Amino acid sequence: MKQQKPESNRRDFIKTASAATAVAGIAPFAIGRSKGQRALETVNLGVVGTGGRGAGACNDSLTINDNVRLIAMGNLRPEKAAEKRDILKQAHGDKVQVEDHNIFGGLEAYEAIIDHPDVDCVLLTTSPGFRPWHVERAVNAGKHVFAEKPVCLDPAGWHACKRASDKAKEQGTAIVTGTQYRRQTNYVEAVDHINNGMIGDPLAATARYCSTGIWYRPREENMTDAEYQLRNWMHFIWLSGDQICEQAVHNIDLMNWIFGNPEVCYTTGGRFTRPDDSEMWDQMSVDYLYPGNRLVSFKCRQVPGTKSDADNVIYGSKGIAYIRAINGGTRIVDRTGKELYVADGNIGAAYRQEHKDLVDSIVSGDPIVELMPTADSSLTAAMGRMSAYSGQPVTWDFATKESKLDTFKHGITADQSIESPGAAIPGKWPLT
Ligand SMILES: NC(=O)c1ccc[n+]([C@@H]2O[C@H](COP(=O)([O-])OP(=O)(O)OC[C@H]3O[C@@H](n4cnc5c(N)ncnc54)[C@H](O)[C@@H]3O)[C@@H](O)[C@H]2O)c1
Repeated sequence: MKQQKPESNRRDFIKTASAATAVAGIAPFAIGRSKGQRALETVNLGVVGTGGRGAGACNDSLTINDNVRLIAMGNLRPEKAAEKRDILKQAHGDKVQVEDHNIFGGLEAYEAIIDHPDVDCVLLTTSPGFRPWHVERAVNAGKHVFAEKPVCLDPAGWHACKRASDKAKEQGTAIVTGTQYRRQTNYVEAVDHINNGMIGDPLAATARYCSTGIWYRPREENMTDAEYQLRNWMHFIWLSGDQICEQAVHNIDLMNWIFGNPEVCYTTGGRFTRPDDSEMWDQMSVDYLYPGNRLVSFKCRQVPGTKSDADNVIYGSKGIAYIRAINGGTRIVDRTGKELYVADGNIGAAYRQEHKDLVDSIVSGDPIVELMPTADSSLTAAMGRMSAYSGQPVTWDFATKESKLDTFKHGITADQSIESPGAAIPGKWPLT
């Protein structure tokens, strides 16, 4: 699997679109779409990060789209990418055309995928710390992008997303993000009903991502600090952003979808059960104040033996909307309890729909650029963590205009020594 410069045979496939056509499917992001990019008949995919979700995203795109080919794969360990290639090939046959020389390994793999002349669209599915920098690099290379959530973990990453979003709109390339609930029918319809007044004025909400625990990948003999942290990434804040960013951003994204971006947040929390070298907290409880004095009480927790709850409840002046995660469905009632709307959930369909919308938008020449709503939700989650760690309230203005926080280890190499700052202690951890 050594790296070599790929040769292009892609030019034959590129056609100039005569007219942009409307994108089929749900379009829940209230944002503009850039126009003018040359359309393609077949979209060649390259993936960076072939773990659980990377392979899942490839499978979703190959399942829902007739006109895609997977042609290049990058992963820290290239042999793992090759394993995923073989599994995907069994399921999708000729749509998977990843030759051995188009499997790339190590921390530079992302550049080989992004710069590959035959790759039209990159799926960015590594651990989240890399995301804003990979997105910006891919957009600067003129590539269409699928970016898993969260798309940033701190204000510096949010600014990188902003630059990438502006550039993608200007040049006419697509960015679709892995906030699949924005395409899940029972979520989309519930938000439409809320916007159309079914529960009256939405006044407040509770949102929770509470679960029993998460994986921990112990250090193996002879691993450098960088190798260990990259593998056990969930537990290092520069790579995961803590649970609130990595996982609970889904609920926060729904809150922002309904209420806009928050003005300020105030967080408490702590840790009792994490392994000693984990930088993560066990739980956080955040009050987010949204415009119009509307309060969202948000909680996340990962503690073995506790009750899981990943649901959202929106309290309006005339009714209440229960929007449950995964396949839990939606139920909206009025204040007397009379049922107004009920729908099942189908998260699998939503995972696939995001890839259909992305590819349709590329082929039609009317590319979707939806990075900023997801960047805003990702920053909202990061604000919750910044408030938790520092013990200070954090405003949207501070996060977007003043903070210089950049948690990513730019220029990281596999043999690098990394001193962990340990778990944050409020009152001692600076708000920067
Ligand atoms: N939308 C969803 O519901 C959903 C579900 C699961 C995961 N995710 C997101 O997907 C992302 C990946 O999660 P996962 O569960 O697949 O993790 P994972 O640990 O299974 O896979 C991550 C992969 O990325 C590779 N990688 C890491 N850094 C890399 C780099 N710089 N270059 C190349 N490869 C690199 C690793 O080798 C690993 O194979 C995370 O952001 C996570 O939050 C989203």
